[in-house]
Amino acid sequence: MNPLIFAMPDCDQLADRLAGLMAGDRGLMEMRRFPDGESYARLMDDVSGRNVVFVASLVRPDDKILALMFAVSTARELGAKTVGLVVPYLPYMRQDRRFHEGEAITSRWFARLVSSFADWMVTIDPHLHRYHSLDEIYDIEAHSLRAAPLISAWIADKVEKPLLVGPDTESTQWVSVVAESVGAPFTILEKNRKGDREVEVSRPDVSAWKDHTPILVDDIISTARTMIETVGRIQEVGLRPPICIGVHAVFAEQGYEALKAVKPADIVTCNTIAHETNAIEVAELLADGILDRVSFLKH
Ligand code: R5P
Repeated sequence: MNPLIFAMPDCDQLADRLAGLMAGDRGLMEMRRFPDGESYARLMDDVSGRNVVFVASLVRPDDKILALMFAVSTARELGAKTVGLVVPYLPYMRQDRRFHEGEAITSRWFARLVSSFADWMVTIDPHLHRYHSLDEIYDIEAHSLRAAPLISAWIADKVEKPLLVGPDTESTQWVSVVAESVGAPFTILEKNRKGDREVEVSRPDVSAWKDHTPILVDDIISTARTMIETVGRIQEVGLRPPICIGVHAVFAEQGYEALKAVKPADIVTCNTIAHETNAIEVAELLADGILDRVSFLKH
């Protein structure tokens, strides 16, 4: 039977698109807060015997994870055959070790929590730095899809003579793939993070590519300090203003305004998190990934 797809708050558009692309049915649910801030969840469609999918935006997850757990657990309790999560942006991946004595390795605890209530999960470009795969921390079937081909297609369509720039060594994994697929050179900088809102980025040696259009590519833009510092280094070496591409438009605090203030040529993100910079559509990537890879939906 076709999957039954529910949308958590802010996810109706993506859930509609996935239902269309996956020949799924759209489920209706009511989700609201009581006056004291506690969450209310009600599934309005019969889930019994169905493969149920919840599409969830988990940026700023502390406000959202309990409501998701209530909805998913209710679907299981009411007889759903399987329950999976489509989480285009997977939070809590950056605290992947104990940097200081006594710190919580929150990526592990978050993974343990999600694994306790869902059967499977699909996400896009989780921040895999010290982990090589989600399987290291998730006990459920967890698939990560890559936005690199979509970013490459956007660049190939819009930019002549691109020069890909990665702000730190972790970015090599997506910058090198994008550069190869658009046939462009790339350079990776060194980043030194000094605090939540303070980073230093090295200056690129770009003497061979002065006539190119620099394109910064990173997975997450949060405070945007990484992008802002990198834009600064690019300006110092006399390149034209860069295009900033991020997979996930987290944009914490005043990050977006601060990034616009350093005047990049453009700011472009994938619509894994709804934001006015979204220019790269991920619905087909998700639908194909779910249908190709989730074993629960193959039976
Ligand atoms: C971490 O290394 C990530 O890849 C990003 O570079 C980082 O999350 C960006 O954070 P911010 O925008 O706060 O500098």
